[in-house]
Amino acid sequence: MEQSRSALFTESLLGWFADHTRPMPWKGEKNPYFVWLSEIILQQTRVAQGTPYYERFVEAFPTVLSLAHASEDEVMKLWEGLGYYSRARNLHATAKHIAFELKGEFPDTYQTLLTLKGVGPYTAAAIASFAFDLPHAVVDGNVLRVLARYFGISSPIDDTKSKKQFTELANQLIDAVRPADFNQAIMDFGATVCMPANPLCKTCSMSVECVAFKENRVGELPVNNKKIEKKERYFHYFVIHAGEDVFIRKRVGKDIWQHLYEFPMLEVTSLLSGEALIETSFISGPYRTIRVSKPYRQALTHRYIIAIFKEIEVEPDFEPITTEFLRIKKNNLINFAFPKIITLYLQDKELSLFG
Ligand code: ADE
Repeated sequence: MEQSRSALFTESLLGWFADHTRPMPWKGEKNPYFVWLSEIILQQTRVAQGTPYYERFVEAFPTVLSLAHASEDEVMKLWEGLGYYSRARNLHATAKHIAFELKGEFPDTYQTLLTLKGVGPYTAAAIASFAFDLPHAVVDGNVLRVLARYFGISSPIDDTKSKKQFTELANQLIDAVRPADFNQAIMDFGATVCMPANPLCKTCSMSVECVAFKENRVGELPVNNKKIEKKERYFHYFVIHAGEDVFIRKRVGKDIWQHLYEFPMLEVTSLLSGEALIETSFISGPYRTIRVSKPYRQALTHRYIIAIFKEIEVEPDFEPITTEFLRIKKNNLINFAFPKIITLYLQDKELSLFG
C-alpha cells in the first residue's frame, strides 16, 4: 500500500470523527477497569443495549476489587438479558485474578492484556489504545467491512490468513499519536455510516477515495464465505406450582446459558413429539395441567431456541425427583438470573400465575 493512501484514510477518518461526536459513557475513559468493562459488555452487544448495563455495573462495582468480591449470582443477575453468559463468568474470574493475583494492578501492555481470560486480540487492542494510548488497532466486523470497502479488498473476512492481512493493514493505518481516537473513529464510522446494509455513501465524506464506492462494489464487499446456518433447538419447560412455590434449577454442564437458572426442562426434537414424553418424566404422583404456553423464540448466534412452558399444579408437599431442583417462592423468581426466553415468558402479561 503506498504511503499516501494509508495516510489519506487516517486523515479523512479522523476528520470525520472530529465532526461526529457520538456520546457514550466510556468515551475518553482512561481507567483500564472501566474500559475493560465496557468492551466486555460491548462484545457482540449494540451500544444502545449495552449502555444501561455498563452504567449499572459501574454503579454496583466501581472498582475491580468490588467486582472481585461480588457473588457469582450478583454478577449473573446484573448481566441478565445480555446473552453470551460465559462473558459474565470470565469477567468475574478476571476481576478476581486482577484483584487477588495481580494485587489490583491492571495489565498495561497488549501482550499482558491478552493473557486475561475473555480478552482476545480485539479487546486487548481496545484497552491498550483507550487506556494506555498504545498503537494497537482493533479489528472486528465493523473494521473489516470499512477496510474491505475503502481499499477494495475482496479476500474473505472469515478466513484466518486474510484476517491477518486486514490486521496488518489496520496496524499500519493506526495513528501513532492518537491511537485511541483512531480506534474509536473506525468503530463509530462502521456502526453509523459504513453499515452492512444501506450504508450512507451518498453523504459519506470518505466516499471520494473509497474503492468499493467508485467501482460500485459496496454491496459485494466485504466477502464472507461462511454463512452460519442456524439450527433449531426445542426446549419443553415445566413450571411446577406447589402452593406458593415453584421449582427451578441452575444450568451447569457444557452448553448454552451456563450458571443461569431455568425451570425443569426436557430438550425434545420437535415441540409436538415432546408432548407424550412430557407427561411422566418429571412428576410422579397427582398433578393437574393448568395450561401450555404459546411457543417463545430466541435467536442465538448459531441456534434458534424455541420453548414452550407447561404449567402444572402439584400437591403443596410435592417432592421433586431430584435434588437439583430448587424450591423457591414465586415472588422470589425476580432474584435469579434467567435466559431471555424465560424472562420473556415470566413478563408475559397474559400470565396470571406470576402476578
Ligand atoms: N463496540 C465495542 N467497543 C466499542 C466502543 N468503545 N465504542 C463503540 N462501540 C463499541
